[in-house]
Amino acid sequence: ELLTELGRLQEMFIVDKDKLKLITQRFVSELEKGLTDDAGDIPMNVTWSFGYPTGHETGSYITIDMGGTNVRVCNVVLTDGKGEVDIVQEKFVMPEGLKKSNAETLWDFLADCTAEFLGKHSLDTKEALPLAFTFSFPVTQPHIRSGILQRWTKDFDVDGVEGEDVVPQLEKAFKKRNLPVEIVAVVNDTTGTLIASAYKDPEMRIGSIFGTGVNAAYMEVCGAIPKIKDHGLPPDLEVAINTEYGAFDNSRKVLSRTPFDRSIDENSSRPGQQLYEKMVAGLYIGELLRLVLLDLHERNHMFKEQDVSLLRQKNSINSLFLSTVEEDKSDALHDISFMFNKALNIEPVDYELKVTRFLTELIATRSARLYSCGIAAVSKKKGLETCHVGVDGSVFNKYAHFRNRAAQALKEILDWPEGSPDPISIYSAEDGSGVGAALIAALALQRTEKEA
Ligand code: BG6
Ligand code: GLC
Repeated sequence: ELLTELGRLQEMFIVDKDKLKLITQRFVSELEKGLTDDAGDIPMNVTWSFGYPTGHETGSYITIDMGGTNVRVCNVVLTDGKGEVDIVQEKFVMPEGLKKSNAETLWDFLADCTAEFLGKHSLDTKEALPLAFTFSFPVTQPHIRSGILQRWTKDFDVDGVEGEDVVPQLEKAFKKRNLPVEIVAVVNDTTGTLIASAYKDPEMRIGSIFGTGVNAAYMEVCGAIPKIKDHGLPPDLEVAINTEYGAFDNSRKVLSRTPFDRSIDENSSRPGQQLYEKMVAGLYIGELLRLVLLDLHERNHMFKEQDVSLLRQKNSINSLFLSTVEEDKSDALHDISFMFNKALNIEPVDYELKVTRFLTELIATRSARLYSCGIAAVSKKKGLETCHVGVDGSVFNKYAHFRNRAAQALKEILDWPEGSPDPISIYSAEDGSGVGAALIAALALQRTEKEA
């Protein structure tokens, strides 16, 4: 009976080659649509970050990164001509509750982190330093120095920020503390990743994050972006597009959602939003495993006689749990057992460990295969036959199997013969929210000087 259940689950989670292709095709047309005035599912946000860096960027910048799990403040010094970078950084853990607080609490926290950083590194006495703010959420940017939050993603729900420009809000918190910084650019983590990676490798064409959320950025020529045609920009000028493609298929046309996916969406702080992201990203794959295990328990297949109160708690399984499950090489599956004890206070028996491994593979494989559709779609949209993709984020960096699974799916989508080199190669990205954000600030300041 359990075997029948597992067979049913396998069918639900498998995405075969034909389906991958169908999803990618739809994805390409949605990317196109997002560049026009008829807004579709994918925002395709114009970032006003023009062109790739040359290696001649200079200056000292403060960068603040607020994205998935931590806040990171850096001082990045770019040295002309050598492509050299000096970086000093501090990481700050976001307090529990900040994700669901209010605007003032959030900006005060970021300003306090910045003040501590500047003080510690004796940067608080000099003249104002330019600051690039990596704010990894969908924003509308009338220009590079502003970012109006379209909506919170990744289960953030801070009152008083949606629909507002984050720059004056953060600046107000800086002013209260008299901090010598001036915000010169609002950056997305994907755009930072693209620019930092291209700084080191001229074949980089896509910057992507596969962590708490999923998203990608690439360069588009202004002439191919109908929604900015009134700006009178040269048609061959390249500008970075933050696709925000976590929102792919919000209109529910092509992805086959399981009842578990629906449940995750319904219990999230923004139901109906980020439907692709909710099937793929690190914040949700642990939840998927939890819901499937709980369902098997409710049907009397698993953890009989065990206290499952922790398994009932939202987010009690995270993506680290999944990577530990898949990497356990011991015959007795010790590490999986340990994770069950530690995270869920459950003592699993042998078959439960094996079932968990099976389910983890199903969920993680679906995630990697669906992730590849976005990357394939951007490269198809740009007509790239080969390219390098720089990827950052906790899932990509810490989950060994993802890279191979994603590479395999890309080959299937692109009909690339087995054994031949990957047409689209995925690499670990360079530091997007430090070096990338500083480069973007440098490029923006150069442009302002030229225009003045
Ligand atoms: C980090 C980058 O490495 O990865 C951040 O510095 C980015 O800019 C983050 O937002 C994404 O990963 P996660 O797992 O924190 O969402
Ligand atoms: C979410 C955010 C997006 C970010 C991604 C990865 O999708 O909306 O801005 O790039 O997560 O952090």
